[in-house]
Amino acid sequence: MATKIVTLEELQAHTKKDSLYVLLHNKVYDVTKFIDEHPGGDEVIMAEAGKDATEAFEDVGHSDEARGLLKDMLIGDFEQNSALPTRSTTTTTQATTHTASQSGSSISYFIPLALLAAYFAWRFYSGAA
Ligand code: HEM
Repeated sequence: MATKIVTLEELQAHTKKDSLYVLLHNKVYDVTKFIDEHPGGDEVIMAEAGKDATEAFEDVGHSDEARGLLKDMLIGDFEQNSALPTRSTTTTTQATTHTASQSGSSISYFIPLALLAAYFAWRFYSGAA
């Protein structure tokens, strides 16, 4: 059987408790039947609906048994080029913006400081004369 490709639209169309898909390691799982049995509760899985749950899943350190349950819930592979924002891409964007605004602000600090220094220098020399 050919592997089904699940699109971002399909993933985000199943975010309700009566039909819930989860994305883990680029594979999409239908966890609708499992959610009531989840030892960690339904809310934590609901919170990851429609996005990449890999990080949350791995942070918990799920057992091999937990991973074994996944194969029965597999629907297919996630569409590779779907523009799903992950936590890491968001961080990269923020870091770039931050660096840019930092170099901008050091110039805007320098100009008034230089003017202030010039003013005091002028006061000093004109007062001394
Ligand atoms: C969708 C696939 C998932 C499966 C098949 C699954 C399965 C399991 C299983 C079998 C356990 C019992 C402990 C273990 O064997 O590791 C467990 C515990 C737990 N899971 Fe999941 N889980 C899934 C997703 C998630 C997600 C997305 C979260 C989000 C944070 C999560 C949070 C937890 C937590 C916090 C526990 C610990 C509960 C406790 O010890 O009180 N799980 N899970």
